[in-house]
Amino acid sequence: MQSLINQAIKILQEGGLVAMPTETVYGLGADAKNPDALRKIFQAKQRPIDHPLIVHLANMSQLDEWVSHVSPIAQRLAKAFWPGPLTLILPKAPHVLDIVTGHQQTIGIRIPRHPVAQALLEGFGSGIAAPSANRFGRISPTTAAAVREELGNAVDLILEGGSCEIGLESTIVDVTGDHPVILRPGMITAVQIVAVLHEALSTSYHHAPRVSGSLESHYAPVTKTQLFSAVEISQLLTTVSEADLPIALVLRTPVVTDNKKINCVMMPPDAKSYAHALYQTLRTLDNQQVKRIVIEDVPEDGEWLAIRDRLVKASF
Ligand code: TXA
Ligand code: MG
Repeated sequence: MQSLINQAIKILQEGGLVAMPTETVYGLGADAKNPDALRKIFQAKQRPIDHPLIVHLANMSQLDEWVSHVSPIAQRLAKAFWPGPLTLILPKAPHVLDIVTGHQQTIGIRIPRHPVAQALLEGFGSGIAAPSANRFGRISPTTAAAVREELGNAVDLILEGGSCEIGLESTIVDVTGDHPVILRPGMITAVQIVAVLHEALSTSYHHAPRVSGSLESHYAPVTKTQLFSAVEISQLLTTVSEADLPIALVLRTPVVTDNKKINCVMMPPDAKSYAHALYQTLRTLDNQQVKRIVIEDVPEDGEWLAIRDRLVKASF
């Protein structure tokens, strides 16, 4: 692995793109100080150029180079959740490139805990800008094979890091205002954040325009995808016509059907395992040429909130 890490560091230094595993999803990384390299990220993803990138660091000692101020609230969150699946929006340091921040005065920073990401960041010694390693609007990759499927030759090296432990993108918390705001829910929940801060939280992810994940159809399969209640799914089973088949059902409640053209996938009962499995399940079903993917709704609280947020965005 070390020789691959060295190769990856060299590619980054020369302005190339490296896909790296993190505990959330795979990222498409470039040197956050190299504008030509950063432009390649946008080309590879076909992502609109004004969408800001998260800068990944190895540890807190690098923070001062990227941000102009770390408030006591930001420090508490960083201490509690880094390294880990948290992104903080902070006031940017003066030199940070506009292509990183989308011409904003803020920057998204994350210190991931995946050992391969850590080794790469430690060795590179500077910030790696990395959005999720998928084409714009598509499902984030949670395996190296999924990165290859998404980006093919547009990426110079894909570091293998197994299947991502968490499987959903990081929780994004904006700590630049008077009160912290969750811009994107993740597996670090509002309850966990409040427990650290002893302070109320706003959630504005329904109307946060600068978070590309807040666009309506995002994290989406190509196949038409719908979110149904368990009752609606049992109704669907009695009314579905041959012309609607084959169809895939992503379930939490078992159903009875012997129709071979109805592919039932039972998801794990707990939120952590569900999140871990979700994107790979959708990716597999998306490749199966079904006419529709129907997903059974999930609760809207705790860790399920982040999952539901992605399910709503995947449905269209
Ligand atoms: O788990 C994750 O966060 C993964 C891994 C690779 O770290 N990254 C990820 O990046 O999901 P991306 O680019 O797919 O989503 C990051 C979101 C984007 O929607 C972007 O608009 C938002 O973070 N973002 C980045 N910088 C921001 C800023 N300064 N202000 C507001 N939103 C920002
Ligand atoms: Mg993304």
